Amino acid sequence: MEKITEDRIKVLISEEEIKERIAALGKEIAKDYEGKDLHLICILKGGAFIACELAKSIQIPLSIDFMAVSSYGDATVSSGRVKIIKDLDDPVEGKDVLIVEDIIDSGNTLANLLQLLQTRKPNSIRICTLLDKPDRRVTDVHVDYVGFQIPDKFVIGFGLDYAQKFRNLPYIGVVE
Ligand code: IMP
Ligand code: MG
Repeated sequence: MEKITEDRIKVLISEEEIKERIAALGKEIAKDYEGKDLHLICILKGGAFIACELAKSIQIPLSIDFMAVSSYGDATVSSGRVKIIKDLDDPVEGKDVLIVEDIIDSGNTLANLLQLLQTRKPNSIRICTLLDKPDRRVTDVHVDYVGFQIPDKFVIGFGLDYAQKFRNLPYIGVVE
């Protein structure tokens, strides 16, 4: 695997920009979910970084749970295509679920996950992602809250990894 050194990483979205955007998303979400039973589902590992920041900026009561999945790929091959690495602790039935992801790329993982979660009868499901790469979409998924749309480039930081490293960068970087 190719080695990435820090001098090859260029800042695409700064720490400050991310902070501001997440705060704005939090306000918007708080308004939309007023009086509802908001339940955040953080998709590990990358989603943990935005989920924690976002949760703190949503000024209404909420609960949070964590899930780790890996996709087998082709979402058009119907259900059962998502492998659960770590399942949720709590039921989602009747709750207003907001899935929190780091990035939506092909959309396959999310499309599969949506199918799976629908079978557990939540009251509603929406999606929030820090980053969206619309040019890469293979499976159409409706994303309700997007931090930033980015071009088709491989990015790291703020939860996103390269070979499990660089998740801890406080900004979004692109490898040159
Ligand atoms: P997809 O939408 O099913 O293709 O999968 C999205 C997943 O691919 C994300 O949760 C990331 O783990 C990974 N991914 C996609 N693009 C990037 C990137 O630019 N950097 C790091 N991970 C990425
Ligand atoms: Mg991921």
